[in-house]
Amino acid sequence: MDSRPRLYLCTAFLCGVLLTLGFKDVYPDLERRFRRRRVPINSIAGAGLAPKDHIDLEDRTKKINEADRHVVEIGEGIEACVGNTPLFRIKSLSEETGCDILGKAEFLNGAGGSPKDRVAFNMIKTAEEQGLLTPHSGDTIYEGTVGSTGISLATICRARGYLAHICMPSDQATEKSDLLLKLGAVVDRVPPAPIIDPMHFVNRARNLAADHTADPTRAGRGYFADQFENQANWQAHFEGTGPEIYQQCGGKVDAFVAGAGTGGTIAGVARFLKPKLPNLRVVLADPQGSGLFNRIKNGVMFDPLEREGTRRRSQVDTIVEGIGINRVTANFEAGRELIDDAIKVNDEEALAMARWLAEKDGMFVGSSSAVNCVAAARLARLSGPGQRIVTILCDSGTRHLSKFWTHAGDIGGRTDTKLSHILGD
Ligand SMILES: Cc1ncc(COP(=O)(O)O)c(C=O)c1O
Repeated sequence: MDSRPRLYLCTAFLCGVLLTLGFKDVYPDLERRFRRRRVPINSIAGAGLAPKDHIDLEDRTKKINEADRHVVEIGEGIEACVGNTPLFRIKSLSEETGCDILGKAEFLNGAGGSPKDRVAFNMIKTAEEQGLLTPHSGDTIYEGTVGSTGISLATICRARGYLAHICMPSDQATEKSDLLLKLGAVVDRVPPAPIIDPMHFVNRARNLAADHTADPTRAGRGYFADQFENQANWQAHFEGTGPEIYQQCGGKVDAFVAGAGTGGTIAGVARFLKPKLPNLRVVLADPQGSGLFNRIKNGVMFDPLEREGTRRRSQVDTIVEGIGINRVTANFEAGRELIDDAIKVNDEEALAMARWLAEKDGMFVGSSSAVNCVAAARLARLSGPGQRIVTILCDSGTRHLSKFWTHAGDIGGRTDTKLSHILGD
C-alpha cells in the first residue's frame, strides 16, 4: 500500500497538536532561540562591521529597562541640567602616577557648560527669594566676569525672564563674548585695569547696576550679582559639588585640588568635605602671576611676576583664564583656612598638560582644567601611589580655541610624551 497518505495524515496531526498546545510549551528551547535571534549589528547601524559583531537585543532591552528604573523625574527647564556632573578616572594620569586621579566633569553642566552654572543659578534663586529680582519686569543682572559666569548667568537669565549685562576684560578669548551676544546679553569688553579703577570690569558692572536702578525711565532694577563677594557662590558648591564628590567617591577622598578665581569652588567643597574627612588635603592649584599661592604659603598676596615695573597686563600675568587673582575676595576667604597647601603651575606646564590630555585621553579641556591636572599629578607624585585625588575639569577647550589652544598648537598623534616632561621631575 502507498504509505504517503498516512505520512501526510501524521504530519497534519502533529502540526495540529503543536498549535493546540502552544509551540513554546512543547519546544521551549526552540522558541527561545527564535526570540533571542542574534541580529548582526551592521544590519542596524550601517555597513563596515564584520558579521561576527553581534548584539543581543534581549540583553540590551533588559539593561535599558534596568537603567530606566533610575530615572526619577523630568526636570523643569534648563536649570534641571545644572549639577550632578559625572566623576571619572583620568586614565593616563592615574596609570602614570599610581594614584586614582579623578576629574569632576563640570564642563558638562548643561546650561553654560562650567561650574558657574551652579553659582549663577544659586545667586539668582537667592536674589529671587530675597525679593531683589522679579521675572519679566525688566530686571537686569549685571556682572563682572572673565566669561564663564557671564555665560551661565546669560543662559539662566533667558530661562527665567531677566536681561543680562556682562562686563569682561577685553583680553579674554572672543569665543566667550561671541557666545554671550548670541544669548542676547549686552557685553562690555573693557580694557584690563587695576581694581581701584572704576573701569575695572567688576566696578563697571556694579556702577551700571546702580545707574539702572536709579534711572526712573528704565524698566525694572539693576541687580549686581557680585560673584566675588556673594556668599551664594561658595554655598552653591557646599550644597552641590561637595556632596556630589563625597557620594561619588563613597566617602573615600584623600585630596581635593582646584584653582581659584573667586574661590567659591575650593571654599564650598572644602567646607563640605573637611568636617566629614578630617584627613583630606585641600590643595590650591595656582597659575603664574596669581598672588594666591603666596597667600596660602606665606599669608601675603604677592607674585614676583606682578611686582612693580614687571607687570605686562593688569589682572594676572598668564594666558590661563578663569583662575588666579591678586586681591582678597570673600569667597576665597570663606575657605582659606581649610586650604592645606598650594602648587604653582606655569603657562608652559598648563599648555603641555592640555596637549597631553587631548593626546592620551581624548579630553579637550580649557586652561584652568589643565592647571588643575598639573597640580593633581604633581601632588600624586609627591604623595606616592595609592592616593585618591579629585580635581575639577572646569570647561571645554572649545571656549579657548582662539587663545590658549592657539598657543597649545595642534595634536599630531604623538604617544611618546612623558609625564615627567610636563612636571619636570
Ligand atoms: C573656566 C573657569 N575655571 C575655574 C574658575 C574658578 O572657579 P572659582 O571662581 O569658583 O574659584 C573659573 C571662574 O571664573 C572659570 O571661569
